Amino acid sequence: MYSDKFKASLQLITNNREQNAAYEPQRMSAEQKEEILNKYHPDHREDKFATLKVGKNKGDKVPAELCGMLCAHSRIKDIKIDLQNPDYDVDVLIIGSGGAGASAAIEADNAGASVLVVTKLRMGDANTMMAEGGIQAADKPDDSPAIHFIDAYGGGHFAAKRELLSKLVLQAPEAIKWLSDLGVEFDKAPDGTMITTHGGGTSRKRMHACKDYSGAEIMRTLRDEVLNRGITVVDFTAAIELILDENGAAAGAVLLNMETKELLVARAKTVILATGGAGRMHYQGFPTSNHYGATADGLVLGYRAGAKLLYADTLQYHPTGAAYPEQIYGALVTEKVRSLGAKLVNAKGEVFVHPLETRDVCAAAIIRECGERANGVDTGNGYGVWLDTPMIEKINGAGTIERRIPAMMRMFDKYGIDIRVDPILVYPTLHYQNGGLDITADGMTAVENLYAAGEVVGGIHGRNRLMGNSLLDIIVFGRSAGKNAAEKSKTVKPGRLTLDHVSAYEKELEGAGIETELVSPKLLPDYTRKVRSL
Ligand code: FUM
Repeated sequence: MYSDKFKASLQLITNNREQNAAYEPQRMSAEQKEEILNKYHPDHREDKFATLKVGKNKGDKVPAELCGMLCAHSRIKDIKIDLQNPDYDVDVLIIGSGGAGASAAIEADNAGASVLVVTKLRMGDANTMMAEGGIQAADKPDDSPAIHFIDAYGGGHFAAKRELLSKLVLQAPEAIKWLSDLGVEFDKAPDGTMITTHGGGTSRKRMHACKDYSGAEIMRTLRDEVLNRGITVVDFTAAIELILDENGAAAGAVLLNMETKELLVARAKTVILATGGAGRMHYQGFPTSNHYGATADGLVLGYRAGAKLLYADTLQYHPTGAAYPEQIYGALVTEKVRSLGAKLVNAKGEVFVHPLETRDVCAAAIIRECGERANGVDTGNGYGVWLDTPMIEKINGAGTIERRIPAMMRMFDKYGIDIRVDPILVYPTLHYQNGGLDITADGMTAVENLYAAGEVVGGIHGRNRLMGNSLLDIIVFGRSAGKNAAEKSKTVKPGRLTLDHVSAYEKELEGAGIETELVSPKLLPDYTRKVRSL
C-alpha cells in the first residue's frame, strides 16, 4: 500500500500508461552508452577503488572494500595446524554448494572420484537459489550459438575471453537438456516446446525460465541429485585457507566449523573453488540482491595461494532492485518484468530509457535520473524510479503476472502492493561480480590443480554480463570443472602439505608496509549496529 506522499506521482504514471505502453524508446548508440557509463556507472567512480600492493595483480585497481580483504591477515596467522593427519582425504574437494559446486560434484561423482563438498551455510544457500528470470541457450530454429556469442560479447564490451565465452554458448543447449533430464520443470507451451523470452541485450528470445523461480528450481533439482547420490556434503563448514603441496599445487583446505569454531584439514588431489559472488561486500554502500554468504571468499583464498584475478574492478548493479518498501530494499526485481513489457518511468511520468538496454546502461540511466536530472521519486529511504508493472497485463492480457512472475507478485503483495494494479519503485542493487579468478578453458586457475567455477570466475562475460548467462555458466563451467578435476585427480601424487604460501603472503604484506586489523576471508557480513557513544 502506497502512502499519500506517492499519490501525485502515481496519478501521473496511471494517466500516462496508455501513451507510455505504446511508446518505443530509442536504443542508445555506442557513443551514448559509453558516455552514460563513464559519467554515472559506479564502476567509473575512481575514488571508490584502490590499487593492490601485493600478490599477482599488484598494481591493479579493485574495489576498495575488496582491496581491504585481499590485503588482510589470514585467519590462521600464528595458529599451528597439523597438516599431516587430515580429517578428510578425497580425490576432489569442492568449496561451495551453489549451482556450480553441485554441478561439479555430480560430474566428479560420474567420473568415479571421491568427492567432498564443504559449504559455510547450508547446501544450496547461494546466489543460484536467488536467481529469478532464467537461463539462456540458443536452441530455437531462429537462433544459434554464434548469435548468442555476438550478443554476449557485445554486451560485455568485447572483453570476454573468447575461448570461455565460446564454450559457454556452444554447450548451452546441452546444459538445458541436462537440467531438464535431471528434472528441472522449465516453462513449456501446450505443445511441449520451451517458452523463451528476451533479456536485456539479446537479439533472440532464448531465455528459458521456471516462472520467476528459475534459480530455486534449478538448485532444488541439483541439490536432490547430489544428496540422492550420497555425495558427502558438510554444511556450516567454511574453507578459510587453501593448502598447497611442496610443489605449489593445490592439495586441500583448512576448514572452519562455523558452529563449534573447530579447525579441520581436508586433503585432496584437486580442489574446485565454487564460492560464488560478493554482493554482501556492499561495494560503495549499495544494497544487494545476493544471498547472505556472498562475501568474495574465493577471491581471497585463490589470490593468497597465487591465482590471478581478471576484471576484479567490474561489478554488476542490477537496474531493478526494490527501492520501496524499505523491508525489501535491494531485493531483486527480475529483468523478466521488463522483458514482459514493463517500462521504466521517472517521477514526471516519462519513459527515459529503453527497458532492455544492457544492465550497466539501464542502471546508469536510473542513477542519472535520480541524481543529476532530479527526476527520481523520494522513497523516504533514498530515491527510485517507477517500473510500470500494470503495463504487462495491458500488453499480454489479464493473468500474465500471476502466471509468469508469481514470485514478484507475492514479494510486493506482502506489503499491500498489487503489482497488477500499481507500479513499483526500483533502484540499482549490487547483483553480480563480473570479474574474478582467471581460468583456462578447462577451468584451472594459475595454481596447479586448483579449479574454479561459477561467479568466482572472471572473464567469461567480459565487463558486463547479460541476464541468464550466469545460471548458464554455473552449469557449463561447474560440470566441466567437476569432470576435469576428477580426471586430473587420477594422475596426481600429492607431495607434502604446506601452508608456506600463507606466511609468505604475510611477509609480502609487511614488505609493502600494509598495517591492518582486518582478517579474511570475510565469511559473513557484519550487520551489527554500531552503538554511538553518548
Ligand atoms: O533479472 C534477473 O532475473 C536476473 C537474472 C540474472 O542475473 O541472470
